[in-house]
Amino acid sequence: TAEDASAGMGRFSPEPWLPQLLSPRGLALAAALLLLVLFLRTRRTRRPGEPPLVKSWLPFIGEALKLQRDPIGFMTTLQKQYGDIFTVLLGGKYITFILDPFQYQSVIKNQKLSFRGFSNKVLLRVFSIKKLVEDDAMNDELHTCYQLLQGRHLDMLMENTMQSLKQVFEPQLLKTTSWHTESLFTFCNSVIFEMTLTTVYGSILLGHRKTFITELKDDFFKFDGKFTQLASGMPIELLGNIKSIRLKLIKLLTTENLAKFQGWSEVVQRRQDILEKYYLPQDIEIGAHHLGLLWASVANTAPTMSWTMYYLLRNPEAMAVLRDEIDHLLQSTGQKKGPGFSIHLTREQLDSLVYLESTILESLRLSSFSSTFRFVQEDLTLHLEAQDCCLRKGDFVGVFPPILHYDPEIFEAPEEFRFDRFVENGKKKTTFFKRGKKLKYYLMPFGFGISKCPGRFLAVVEIKQLLVILLTYFDLEIIDDKPVKLNFSRSLFGIQHPDSDVSFRYKVKS
Ligand code: HEM
Repeated sequence: TAEDASAGMGRFSPEPWLPQLLSPRGLALAAALLLLVLFLRTRRTRRPGEPPLVKSWLPFIGEALKLQRDPIGFMTTLQKQYGDIFTVLLGGKYITFILDPFQYQSVIKNQKLSFRGFSNKVLLRVFSIKKLVEDDAMNDELHTCYQLLQGRHLDMLMENTMQSLKQVFEPQLLKTTSWHTESLFTFCNSVIFEMTLTTVYGSILLGHRKTFITELKDDFFKFDGKFTQLASGMPIELLGNIKSIRLKLIKLLTTENLAKFQGWSEVVQRRQDILEKYYLPQDIEIGAHHLGLLWASVANTAPTMSWTMYYLLRNPEAMAVLRDEIDHLLQSTGQKKGPGFSIHLTREQLDSLVYLESTILESLRLSSFSSTFRFVQEDLTLHLEAQDCCLRKGDFVGVFPPILHYDPEIFEAPEEFRFDRFVENGKKKTTFFKRGKKLKYYLMPFGFGISKCPGRFLAVVEIKQLLVILLTYFDLEIIDDKPVKLNFSRSLFGIQHPDSDVSFRYKVKS
């Protein structure tokens, strides 16, 4: 009856204290209480033999925000307070950082510290690759492909890169000699994406090639923009339309669609053969593996190219030395800068350009904020020079090379871009010191040990080829004078992006 109903409603009518609790003050109080409970429940205490534990008041997030705001300042402060080894909570994970470069070796050598325990999680979260977690045999086989990015295989990749550069720039070289204005970082992303896609996956056999690449590129960079969030474990459902963009990218790289690319590199061919052994050919997860490789080959190369160009454009002296170095090489190899696209340089010739290489390394030094992580599979003791250090199962161990890259004892005036930092007596400089001792590790944008980037030679060679073409055929000028800074949203994960873009212009040399 109506009476029963109203009586029933009465039973469920809000308690008198509920409006107060739902007020802003009440909600704030409830949130604070929840945080307190979380904090007390998850608070960890240091066990004997473990490294100092950094105190943090925010549950789960820990010190992540401070790290993101100013990574070098944050790490240096902790180093002063706790020493070269400490454990800190970052985004739900306890990470023990080892900051002394002379101790890195003990992390590399310890078999119980696992790279896969870290990387498989990232591959699952970011690319939705599930099988690697359970299939070690496939993982091992896929790793063997990486040798196809190096040695004589690299020479073949270089040929592909040159063809791709020709495709990108030849039409422009034959055009008029008026200035083109572009946004620098957007321009570099675009060129590196197209070059790398064609080098690694081949040319696209479609009438609307340009539109296809542009669409793929735009989706790729939207997806890449959420990389850190995905890698840190944020559910993809909370990231707007990224889930559907990822699916679209994965589908474009499945077995069926890969057939639309002609001239796959050896690494892609071998990878596809292996994947077809472990999956049905039509399995969509094959596309996820290819997206992973495409991401690895573009995501850090593009910002490295951008920073190198940016620093060069702002340092006319460096630009002049590089133009001179390249001119000399072209002359000594009998290559004239005639009209059209005719340059051909071998790997050895590119490697002889020491100032060009130094400029790229210096840009990497300033912009790389990668950390190398290992997963602690079981409680263990790490034997270090000065002390033993107990590590807890389920934690991570990290080295953080940017602290070396910005160490004034190793690199004088580390904040400054000095294009010739890595040249000594006309040769590549490889000797750097700390505490009077020669360093084995002083520049580590590519990680170390078992997980060291297998694409590092390709990345550097690709950037060198592109710069040789740009500096040989074009006049280049920066238009905006405002300085660009790193935005640190990718702290711990690779090359940082700029906090804004800047305009530059280029025209074919007359
Ligand atoms: C300047 C550009 C690049 C930078 C800074 C860079 C950096 C890195 C870093 C820091 C790692 C992880 C190392 C670790 O965790 O210890 C890595 C892994 C990897 N990189 Fe690169 N990379 C670059 C370009 C490339 C290119 C062009 C490729 C070509 C395919 C590539 C393929 C890979 C692959 C496949 C892995 C995973 C290796 C594994 O799972 O063991 N990278 N890279």
